[in-house]
Amino acid sequence: MTPSLLLYCRPGFEDDCSRELATHLQDEGEWENGDGYVLFTPNDYAEAQRLLRELSVDQLIFARQMVFAVARVKLGERDRLGPLLSALGELPPNLQGPWSEVWLEHPDSDAGKQLSGFCKRFGSIVAKELAEHLGPKQGRWRLHLFYPSMEEVFVCIADPARSSPWPLGIARVRMPTGAPSRSTLKLSEAFMVLVPDAEQKLKAGMVGVDLGAAPGGWTFQLVSRGLKVFAIDNGPMKGDMAIHPYVKHLREDGFKYKPQHPVDWLVCDMVEQPQRIAALIARWFASGMTRHAVFNLKLPMKKRWQEIERCFDLIDNELDAAGIQYTLIAKQLYHDREEITCYLGRPSGRQR
Ligand SMILES: C[S@@+](CC[C@H](N)C(=O)[O-])C[C@H]1O[C@@H](n2cnc3c(N)ncnc32)[C@H](O)[C@@H]1O
Repeated sequence: MTPSLLLYCRPGFEDDCSRELATHLQDEGEWENGDGYVLFTPNDYAEAQRLLRELSVDQLIFARQMVFAVARVKLGERDRLGPLLSALGELPPNLQGPWSEVWLEHPDSDAGKQLSGFCKRFGSIVAKELAEHLGPKQGRWRLHLFYPSMEEVFVCIADPARSSPWPLGIARVRMPTGAPSRSTLKLSEAFMVLVPDAEQKLKAGMVGVDLGAAPGGWTFQLVSRGLKVFAIDNGPMKGDMAIHPYVKHLREDGFKYKPQHPVDWLVCDMVEQPQRIAALIARWFASGMTRHAVFNLKLPMKKRWQEIERCFDLIDNELDAAGIQYTLIAKQLYHDREEITCYLGRPSGRQR
């Protein structure tokens, strides 16, 4: 069986997810969009092998997780374990394990969420049953059992180096005490997902600017890491963020504000047309006003993928023209609704 690529995404964004995947393909295949996931089976086995070797979930914006389905098993109501174990036994020898871990998962759809209790309970039964074949040092592949419903399971494998390290592809973050808004979770998740070396890149004593800062959830994330922050917003900052000694609140227009000296970090959560935001961020980088930025692009209702491409072209063109090297990574985070979150950064230790 040719392995299928299975991508988990936010329900409602399956078309965007498949459109994006299509830009990475070299061959045709069959598509199946579920509720909260996309399945692509290449016509050619070699294309599946290439994707397995070359594609990584970090390259994809709309996919939270990327695994390869190697078997699809219909389940009866009575026996959920037997058919699964037989299917595992019938896998080609190189896929039969040992596996580093086994994860039981479901789509993040309304129907899928109802399977969460089952996946937890049945997960410990399956792990016990497969105990001899599991171990972090034993196998390269992680085994994913993805249940789109109680009637069916996709048996999948993933390379831990090319897939998300979090079950369901969701980095769980806790609401911190004292944060003035739930938006704080978004920046916290962005640092986890988009900036893996955030500890080195966000250091006490650095300076940040927060455009569209009120009531202060993103500013909270920066000051709690010891940064001093210029919080730009006509609206009021709330709670501790209104009186914190590291926060300087300026009631100014985020599109006109310029710092007196270059800063280390720019974050931007203004609700505006995505291309306006992309142009603004590109200007900050091209003029050397910041080295790192996290920003949101609010997506239109239609042609979302095209809009993202336009925004990224705009950034590429401006920074290429300025001769600046940079990294641009984006993801539709768990806490993002009709938007994506991006990290733009200059490699450390290099000056233009
Ligand atoms: C989604 S809220 C930001 C929430 C914030 N990140 C938090 O975590 O609490 C968007 C903010 O952008 C501000 N905003 C919109 N346009 C702006 C502009 N041109 N200049 C400054 N702030 C702006 C709004 O006043 C609003 O407070």
